[in-house]
Amino acid sequence: MPNPPVPPTGVSVLVLNGPNLNLLGLREPEVYGKDTLAGIDELCRSTAAAHGLRADCRQSNHEGVLVDAIHEARTAHRGIVINPAGYSHTSVAVRDALAAVELPVVEVHLSNIHRREAFRHHSHVSAVADSVICGAGAHGYALAVTHLAKLLEENR
Ligand code: DQA
Repeated sequence: MPNPPVPPTGVSVLVLNGPNLNLLGLREPEVYGKDTLAGIDELCRSTAAAHGLRADCRQSNHEGVLVDAIHEARTAHRGIVINPAGYSHTSVAVRDALAAVELPVVEVHLSNIHRREAFRHHSHVSAVADSVICGAGAHGYALAVTHLAKLLEENR
């Protein structure tokens, strides 16, 4: 019998998803898989709970809303898992917000961005992320939350 998840403590992490990820399950399933964002959020919450953490899962299609959520995380959360989606490749503002809040950051992409079009090969966020996970599909989020928990444990 697997161990039951450790009850979440007051320590929380932000799981932030960028544009078009609200359409997961419907959107190019051959690239992004069949999991919905609701399913991925649940995976993040249960993975976080197994490490005694609470995951606050948010998604926005708007760059400024993502920047605001990152700023709020400075006082509300201990770390960030982010899939900046299309903004990975374009947004200096999201990159700068992550640098400003000085929290541990794990960047995640469902697809292997390095095996795709050239414009996806560079992410502005990667330079300010502690770790980058890509190409593992929805499982990448479980890996990202698990790794963030390890970073938090090490920095305690
Ligand atoms: C993505 C990859 C990005 O290039 C793309 O714009 C996305 C999703 C991924 O999870 O694989 O929207 O971040």
